Amino acid sequence: MANPLFLFLLFLNVAAAPRAGADGADPCAGRRIYIRHLPPRFNADLLRHCGADAFPLADASAAATSAPPCESLANHGLGPRTHPRSRSWYRTDARLLEPFFHRRILERDCLADDPARADAVFVTYYAALDALPYVLDPALLDASARHGEELAGFLARDQPRILSRRQGHDHFLVVSGSAWDYAQSPGEGPRLWGTTSLLRRPELANFTFLTVESRMWPWQEHAIPHPTSFHPATLPHLRAWLARARRSRRGTLMLFAGGVSRPSRPNIRGSILAECANRTDACAVVDCSGGKCSHDPGRYMRAMLGAKFCLEPPGDTPTRRSTFDAILAGCVPVFFEDLAARRQYGWHLPPARYDEFSVHIPKETVVFGGVRIAETLEAVPEAEVRRMRKRVLEMAPRVLYRRHGSTAELRGAGKDAVDLAVDGVLRRIRRRTCAQDEGRPERIYAMEDDSVEM
Ligand SMILES: *[C@@H]1O[C@H](CO)[C@@H](O)[C@H](O)[C@H]1NC(C)=O
Ligand SMILES: *[C@@H]1O[C@H](CO)[C@@H](O)[C@H](O)[C@H]1NC(C)=O
Repeated sequence: MANPLFLFLLFLNVAAAPRAGADGADPCAGRRIYIRHLPPRFNADLLRHCGADAFPLADASAAATSAPPCESLANHGLGPRTHPRSRSWYRTDARLLEPFFHRRILERDCLADDPARADAVFVTYYAALDALPYVLDPALLDASARHGEELAGFLARDQPRILSRRQGHDHFLVVSGSAWDYAQSPGEGPRLWGTTSLLRRPELANFTFLTVESRMWPWQEHAIPHPTSFHPATLPHLRAWLARARRSRRGTLMLFAGGVSRPSRPNIRGSILAECANRTDACAVVDCSGGKCSHDPGRYMRAMLGAKFCLEPPGDTPTRRSTFDAILAGCVPVFFEDLAARRQYGWHLPPARYDEFSVHIPKETVVFGGVRIAETLEAVPEAEVRRMRKRVLEMAPRVLYRRHGSTAELRGAGKDAVDLAVDGVLRRIRRRTCAQDEGRPERIYAMEDDSVEM
């Protein structure tokens, strides 16, 4: 057992700003980020307009699916605590990842004051919040191709050297949504409801967008985990939760938390609902339709703690927040296609290790091949389920968003979703700027496998 004084010194060291190592190496080399501050209309003002009159487009009857209510802004976007005495659980609205990520970058080490000395430039634009008028107001539908135009104009006008130095290749920002929703072609055809063309703006073409879901060929964006409701600030709080998940009694074989309306065409979600209706002995369903679950983690977390496997079928898009809730709960995720996670979150969950912490059942075999999910999962030996649960809980700290202002002890214990996203984006930008420096522009967009090994 390490003695307490040693631990104290260790944590003190982690908390202090990085100093030169014994060998005189610069601890911030290759890791300096310049924060590109923007006029408030690109960020802070968007938050002030959370009320019913300012996002008049917010439809109260569909509150969970339109604009986030003001109370979600508490705690830098984590939302209010689920309960006055709860320490780590919040009613987090996923769309407020932008201000939260901004807050976390601000408290990071290795920030550069001088953009010319920075390795990367973080653009403090709240893109998905700025998109709300376009996606909620029918009158603005035809203007949605212009999302990002104002930002591009500002960056080109104000201190233009910051942008031109690397032709935008060193710039990155967060978009708390699916890349698909921001990648509509600006030119042809009628505008698609609920989408903009932010990722198609030529002026922003070289930026890296961190989105909660990427497209099939994501040379422009990279996926980072959907935020969940668990945001511990201390190591004991994190450990207490993981211990609870480890010890939890799991009487349910499998759980589906999601929309419960039967789809009209045969698909995997329909097959799951049909099978669960038949196999009430093995399958539990938590009704999350109409956004019922989005601000209420208690609704599904308890059920996830009681299940061995959590079914993660694609919905409107391939990925779902529920995957990350399941990982936190130690509920082994069951995927039905690789786009659901394996081909998305390579910076956070090593693709080569999916077989150790998840189950893959191709959706075609279920929908058209007569494969029964419950029978497949019942056939997994109990020791194997336990092994997978152990692995999935080892992954949990990597996909959760630690609270801002966490203790040095927690920060020193391992990297969370923000830390790994920043590492990943720095790696990607370094590769691109090296290609520029070496005069090999064809390498800039090379789709190299940039996922982590563990
Ligand atoms: C993007 O990068 C390419 C290659 O470096 C460059 O030719 C192009 O001008 C850049 N685009 C913008 C809008 O800066
Ligand atoms: C449900 O049970 C019925 C009767 O046992 C069976 O014919 C049917 O195939 C089952 N459906 C599913 C989806 O398991």
